Amino acid sequence: MSVDFVILAAGNGSRMNSSLPKFFQTIAGKPVICYIIDTCHDYLRTSNETGRVIVVTRDDLKDSEYFNDVDVAIQSEPLGTADALSSALDLLRADHCVVLSGDMPLIETRHLFQLVGAPTENSIIAMTIPGELSSMPYGRVVLGDGMFDKIVEYKNASESERLITIANSGVYKIRTGLLRTYLPQIRPDEISGELYLTDIFSVMKNDGISISVIESPDYWPFHGVNTMNDLAKAESIIQGQLKMKFLEQGVKLIAPDSVYFSYDTLIDRDVVIEPNVFIGPNVRIGKDSRINAFSHIVDCEINDNVEVGPFARIRGNSVLMDHSSVGNFVEVKDSVFSEKAKAKHLSYIGDTTVGKNVNIGAGTITCNYDGVKKYKTSIGDNAFIGSNSTLVAPVTIGAGSIVGAGSVITKTVDQNALAISRAQQVQYQNGAVKIWRKKGRI
Ligand code: UD1
Ligand code: CA
Repeated sequence: MSVDFVILAAGNGSRMNSSLPKFFQTIAGKPVICYIIDTCHDYLRTSNETGRVIVVTRDDLKDSEYFNDVDVAIQSEPLGTADALSSALDLLRADHCVVLSGDMPLIETRHLFQLVGAPTENSIIAMTIPGELSSMPYGRVVLGDGMFDKIVEYKNASESERLITIANSGVYKIRTGLLRTYLPQIRPDEISGELYLTDIFSVMKNDGISISVIESPDYWPFHGVNTMNDLAKAESIIQGQLKMKFLEQGVKLIAPDSVYFSYDTLIDRDVVIEPNVFIGPNVRIGKDSRINAFSHIVDCEINDNVEVGPFARIRGNSVLMDHSSVGNFVEVKDSVFSEKAKAKHLSYIGDTTVGKNVNIGAGTITCNYDGVKKYKTSIGDNAFIGSNSTLVAPVTIGAGSIVGAGSVITKTVDQNALAISRAQQVQYQNGAVKIWRKKGRI
């Protein structure tokens, strides 16, 4: 058997009230649409079936980088879900077509196996709406004598139909040939004027074609993201899944609910994460490292036995090698800390290579930006940077050198040299007493 997946994603998503299309909103750092695309690809990879993944999108979004691995069909006007599927008809080659909505990030590969593997040719996945969500405006699946009768959109449903707890998930399997016959037969909805794909099933049924309903006892895998509230719910579910995974892998989360992960976060065992830590995309944390409270970490590689924070910010392709340490109120951007390098307090280290065993004193700032361009700083192994130093890039600090506290360094510091650039201290004996007298304090 072969199966093509069509992901409908050309709607305006107006219920989101956002200028960013709902499919490009992110959950755990990954765009909503990419979840379902990845799930379809995962199905094709793990099953023996051939087929393609087609996304139906708006013309202005067709060149999105998120669609690099899929075929794209364009629906020029959002005339309804049936019209959206019609736009993909020319691309369909497989015997069966699975239709999905792009706003369902939580569906899993196993649901696709269940649907494609169902013995019937044309099937609808129906989900069970939990009591607390009973007024969610999903289409309701109406059965007669246990057999499929019709799908009625919530807007059009009678009071008794609205009480039905079996709802249309928007996930269907249909024989491709039947789509070509029946899609053109769908008429606009009387209330909205849209062409509803859900109507195809009654039209087919009336022609004697059997439609099976796969009743899922679950709701959440089919949760649709239409509003910011729906998006926040999907986020909390994905975060819960990520937390569970890390706890099972031996990561110690002291207050799991206060830690935010990204879809691609990688953490080794025996890492400890204190409360209120944010981990954005592209982060790997090696074993026995510790991320202290209130740290913000994005786009970096943290190796083994590293300590970060509290209140640290690491970003922009930074690498912290084994046993290095980035302490409180330290920001590190696009920099490498070699083994055992330390910046423990109140620093900005940007575009910098920090050698082994380097100690960067409190308040050290790399001045990497002159208002036009960014420049690099290089600090050699075993160098010691005194507190409150300013390293004006581009600049090289030699291995084994010392920079005296409070220095502004603008030129190369040679290997093993001592560099100090600050005003000499002068002292006037009893000078303070003279001033106090003058001011009348004594
Ligand atoms: C749809 C179903 C509803 C089901 C629910 C499940 C229809 C008519 N209704 O409602 O029965 O319970 O999904 O989540 O299908 N789209 C287009 N072009 C359009 C219109 C929509 O591509 O012209 C896309 C949307 O971007 C979305 C999907 O089709 O990804 C479903 O449309 P949406 O408006 O979200 O439908 P729902 O009201 O959620
Ligand atoms: Ca929807």
